[in-house]
Amino acid sequence: MIVLGISGSIAAYKAVEVARLLLKAGARVRPVMTDSAKHFIGETTLAGICGEPVISDMFAPAQGGEIHVALGAEADVVALVPATAELLGALAQGRANDVVRATALGAACPVIAAPAMHPRMWSHPATQRNVRTLAADGRVVLVGPEDGEVASGESGLGRMSEPSAIAAAILASCGDRDLGGTHVVVTAGPTVEDIDPARFMSNRSSGKMGFAVAARAAARGARVTLVAGPVSLGTPTGVERVDVRSALNMRDALTDLLAEDRNGRAADVVVMTAAVADYRPAEPATEKMKREGVSDRALQLVANPDLIAEIGAARQGDSPYLVAFALETVGGEELIAAARGKLQRKRVDLVVANQASDAFDRDDNVATLVTADVAEPLERMSKMALADRILDRVVACRQR
Ligand code: CTP
Repeated sequence: MIVLGISGSIAAYKAVEVARLLLKAGARVRPVMTDSAKHFIGETTLAGICGEPVISDMFAPAQGGEIHVALGAEADVVALVPATAELLGALAQGRANDVVRATALGAACPVIAAPAMHPRMWSHPATQRNVRTLAADGRVVLVGPEDGEVASGESGLGRMSEPSAIAAAILASCGDRDLGGTHVVVTAGPTVEDIDPARFMSNRSSGKMGFAVAARAAARGARVTLVAGPVSLGTPTGVERVDVRSALNMRDALTDLLAEDRNGRAADVVVMTAAVADYRPAEPATEKMKREGVSDRALQLVANPDLIAEIGAARQGDSPYLVAFALETVGGEELIAAARGKLQRKRVDLVVANQASDAFDRDDNVATLVTADVAEPLERMSKMALADRILDRVVACRQR
């Protein structure tokens, strides 16, 4: 069931087309409106198209119970079409003063929002701050806006995406639950290796790839545990998160997770996106190191364990399915050769090979999926889409 939450913007009339496309795809659509949305679109139209009564009053006695809680628990996706600047602000702040906002705040499923507003409103620092907050919280995925003509006749970034693109994004996020019954462990972000209480060694990993894998695996029905190094990203809906700092902390967390869990079953899949530091200071200082009287200083490093290789070596049979990443500064055949080397050395099933220049701190990525038999180069795509392609491979191999 899809909750279609409509707020007050001229683009609200396009929500009817989105509803129609969702219904055509076989979905049940429950329309929910803010009061201001009613200035732009009729309740009768929506109720007629969806074949469901429009919900707009949180306190209507006839509804009984807490309608926003029930909707948020039952929905496969909550889609906010259109999402006004005010609605984005409310979502960023966790406000819940009407049924659309309260349902989005209480949703146990993905929330998708299609912003629509005048380009000056979209580019305002306050709106952009809200958009960044939403991205960091990881609970609301935005579709659009696009660059194009807006209601005033002016052009710019703020036009709502086309109904077909919005409907496709909604359907993709409530698609197959083909990972149902699987426990997926994902590692993400950098590790941080302390030199002294004030200084550390780390790397440029943002964690976005691993958080995307965790979000998509959860949306596809998996139980997901995300072991995250220090990153500033919000936990995706439905994901259990374990925060760690160093490579040795990450190893401890993985050891716990891969031992039989409380349901008597260890992880079925491990996706190792974390940029684990290969070395750590041999003897981190307990006091801050002082510069006085020291002109040169050498830092003695020792190798960290290769975490995925340890799991590969200890694995009996073919479970858990192991995915490693290979980040290289070379491309083409050399990249594939390096990935194949890691595939064998680490005894994993799939290596996602990419180039440092394509991957760091971006929302998209260019990767090649490398297994023992094939190397499938993929076009540039969002990290969410790449996460789905990796999980498609996992599902296909586990079904064999
Ligand atoms: N990895 C790991 N433990 C480490 C280092 C890396 O589990 N100590 C994992 C990463 O999470 C990734 C894969 O191994 O999935 C490849 O990491 P990468 O740094 O590219 O490879 P390395 O084995 O460190 O080889 P090199 O840095 O020499 O290319």
